[in-house]
Amino acid sequence: MKVHFTETVLRDANQSLIATRMPMSVFEPILETMDKAGYYSVECWGGATFDSCLRYLSEDPWERLRRIKEKMPNTKLQMLLRGQNLLGYKHYPDDVVRRFVQRSVANGIDIIRIFDALNDTRNLKVAIEETIKCGAHASGAISYTTSPVHTLEKFAALAKEMAEMGVKSICIKDMAGVMSPKEAYDLVSAIKDKVNLPVVLHTHCTTGLAFMTYLKGIEAGADVIDTATSVFSGGTSQPATETLYYALSQMGYEIDLKPEVLKQVNDHFKPFFNEAIASGLLDPTVMGTATEALDYKIPGGMLSNLISQLKAQNAIDRLPEVLEETPRVREDLGYPPLVTPMSQIVGVQAATNVLLGERYKSVGKELKAYVRGEYGRAPGEIDPELVKKILGDEKPIDCRPADLLEPEFEKTKKMLGERATSDEDVLSYIAFPQVAEKFFTEREKRMENIVKYTIEAIE
Ligand code: CO
Repeated sequence: MKVHFTETVLRDANQSLIATRMPMSVFEPILETMDKAGYYSVECWGGATFDSCLRYLSEDPWERLRRIKEKMPNTKLQMLLRGQNLLGYKHYPDDVVRRFVQRSVANGIDIIRIFDALNDTRNLKVAIEETIKCGAHASGAISYTTSPVHTLEKFAALAKEMAEMGVKSICIKDMAGVMSPKEAYDLVSAIKDKVNLPVVLHTHCTTGLAFMTYLKGIEAGADVIDTATSVFSGGTSQPATETLYYALSQMGYEIDLKPEVLKQVNDHFKPFFNEAIASGLLDPTVMGTATEALDYKIPGGMLSNLISQLKAQNAIDRLPEVLEETPRVREDLGYPPLVTPMSQIVGVQAATNVLLGERYKSVGKELKAYVRGEYGRAPGEIDPELVKKILGDEKPIDCRPADLLEPEFEKTKKMLGERATSDEDVLSYIAFPQVAEKFFTEREKRMENIVKYTIEAIE
């Protein structure tokens, strides 16, 4: 039996432990070594890396991708894409989704892992279609959660539907780290029964289950696991690459990794990790084990958001009530997985219900949009009384949300004129307008300075 490894230090581990603040200069020198490690793929782009490059690091995310490709020509580069939301939280029109996928592949991406927070396949359709058209590997990701409507049969049917859409692998994406070893075993088995595709397991160490979850998932036939080089593993990040290599190879699993290269990779990231602790970039609490998510069925990140929200309103004593209200709100809404943006929407509403002393007395704009169907189809039924209370006579939409959007790429390109030096710039702007604007200005300043110093040097 063979087990493959996807290394996440450049994307998810970076995002989970240090808010995606790792600059290219830190990892560029080790890329050629990483290229020899024998990874199935390296997750290096997408998710929050794009925004973070532009917003905090003054780096062009596209340039980052091209340089990674140059230094890692033999390793499959992987990105995470939120379906029709691309890397953001709203729906983008189809022309933008297609362009974004095209340019990602053209700049070096080999595998695009595509997910939707609600597991609404209509929100995955265009991204999957375009990825396949571009000749890249589309991996269909299931946003994992537990609820009375999230049964093994439904998850397996979802995997089957994605297989019919042409994906080359199925990823079980447990962003909150709440999938137990038994759940992994049962779910991998259920998917393998229905679909003849490689299954990828993705989880986080947040609740302490991850190593056991991977082991049981592999016993059920999972083909690929997501891990992080040990110094960037654990806590809210992935389980350690070297540890799983050690344990699994002892059990007789065949693994392509080269332990001596893994060591070099890990040694490279150690000084940066230590600096991140010293500078406060890494908050030590993310390295611990938080089992609250298992008790309350609320992901760790959502719990800390709730706590700070209640503290800000001087109402931290109401936390137990809010924690009881949260699953009720989730039930009213048809059990959406508690991932961005649903975790925020459900959390804010639960707190509002408790603090105002009356349920749904006040309802946020995002919750209204969700009930209207603007995020896609709810996994279960939304409480009809709540729909009536929130929408009145207005009818929810039943089409694919992006069907209502006008094409945007050519219009934006024209509007930006010379400020955008490439189609990639136009896409950066569409994804994050203010942040891209700021980045363009910084880039122009840097260019002016280079020209100035060059002229001075000549003079
Ligand atoms: Co993750």
